[in-house]
Amino acid sequence: MTVPVLTIDGPSGAGKGSVSRAVAKKLGWHYLDSGSIYRSLAVAALKHHVDLENEAAIIDIAQAMVLEFDCGDELLVRLDGEDITAHTALEGTGNIASIVAALPEVRRVLLQKQKDFKRLPGLVADGRDMGTVVFPDAEYKVFLTASAAERAKRRYKQLIEKGNDANLARITNEIEERDRRDMERKTAPLAMASDALYIDSSDMALNAVIEEVLNLIR
Ligand code: DC
Repeated sequence: MTVPVLTIDGPSGAGKGSVSRAVAKKLGWHYLDSGSIYRSLAVAALKHHVDLENEAAIIDIAQAMVLEFDCGDELLVRLDGEDITAHTALEGTGNIASIVAALPEVRRVLLQKQKDFKRLPGLVADGRDMGTVVFPDAEYKVFLTASAAERAKRRYKQLIEKGNDANLARITNEIEERDRRDMERKTAPLAMASDALYIDSSDMALNAVIEEVLNLIR
């Protein structure tokens, strides 16, 4: 029996996580947050004090790490049995994830781990290359984006609401730098699949985006 797959790709801060989780919940499908796999690798590299230039050591860690995910209201991540959810959520972790994710061999090692998420009754897969590389045959594809200024504003608000310090200008710079790195890398860069539905959420409420994605499947 074929497993239906919905891919949601786009730059950081576009709302992919919130939309994907809500749609997966509504449909009763599984959820793959592929960014959290790269984030976990970043946490593991920091934990082992590995130099980010040491490609061989990063690849070894990617091969050896054992990840478990629990998808409730928030996604819980365990690395080698340890709850690392709070570490994976940090802004700095996302930036390191983007650096290690540019290594072609790392992407090759992590490919099968991502494909294994495809199970009945269906999968919502969120990332940068879900519709182009990991699940190119997916039945439903979305490219979700928003202006860099809007994405930075949303991230700033999230951080402030959680009681963190935040600086809007710095967040904007980091988002632009991460976009550039994710789009310009040679292997599986952030790109829209030719058969994806393009949604710019800059002026849309979260619920409107969720409805538009659900309409694609209905
Ligand atoms: O979606 P995110 O912010 O959690 O992703 C963190 C980084 O991981 C992102 O900047 C680039 C990398 N990533 C990737 O290269 N490919 C994916 N499918 C998902 C994330």
